[in-house]
Amino acid sequence: MSIEDDQLPEHEAEEPTGTQGRRGIRSYVIRGGRMTVGQTRAYERQWPQFGLTLENGPIDPSTLFDESGPLTFEIGFGMGQSLVETAATHPSNRYIGVEVHRPGVGALLMDVEQRGLTNLRVYCCDANAVIDQCLPDASVDCLQLFFPDPWHKKKHHKRRILQLEFLARVRRVLKPGGLFHMATDWEPYAEQALETLMSAPGYRNVSDSGGYVPRPESRPITKFERRGERLGHGVWDLMFQRTEID
Ligand SMILES: C[S@@+](CC[C@H](N)C(=O)[O-])C[C@H]1O[C@@H](n2cnc3c(N)ncnc32)[C@H](O)[C@@H]1O
Repeated sequence: MSIEDDQLPEHEAEEPTGTQGRRGIRSYVIRGGRMTVGQTRAYERQWPQFGLTLENGPIDPSTLFDESGPLTFEIGFGMGQSLVETAATHPSNRYIGVEVHRPGVGALLMDVEQRGLTNLRVYCCDANAVIDQCLPDASVDCLQLFFPDPWHKKKHHKRRILQLEFLARVRRVLKPGGLFHMATDWEPYAEQALETLMSAPGYRNVSDSGGYVPRPESRPITKFERRGERLGHGVWDLMFQRTEID
């Protein structure tokens, strides 16, 4: 499939520079965009209570929260509305979100403050590093990846976050029986993800048809998804379970 530059989201329209870091190819480009005054103030007030950094090292989810319900880890929450919505709907469950886009973290913290949530923590850095350096083995009940950057052009496919190496990393932190849930509005990415998940060791497709699952009620429509809807895109949900056996 070919796609013209002017059809791409701004951050995918050019070959990013400086994306080949020490840890390899990155799945994101830091976008411009300033934080609003409200986001900045919420960030300053709420970060000490809700923010986590790689320097904090490995976390212990059993002491990090007052709540003790299932732990969900969301990668790339964007502006955070759907994650906040979910956390507000399930106040005894625990949520950790990761997003590299600082204004998105500011927006999420603003919503957390307004709703008085206590069951959510946030990182503002690369999710791969958080998984490797901060999450204990078999600690996560559900890992969510909603509308990851699709990296439309073939020469950029290596930047897609969902690769075999990523799935091995995710599997280590999922509890046996824990869920990996991805949604995308880009069909070629859905197809690649399905194929990669089917070939990844230690996962079982939850779908009865062996393909995609219907959107679970539990997943609110995300901001990026609404944008896709306006463009007439479909949506594909994939749900795989970590198997018991290594
Ligand atoms: C297309 S947006 C989707 C945002 C949101 N999930 C939604 O559906 O509205 C993808 C997001 O993932 C973030 N992202 C990409 N790679 C990431 C990584 N390795 N670690 C953390 N965030 C990442 C990007 O900054 C971007 O905000």
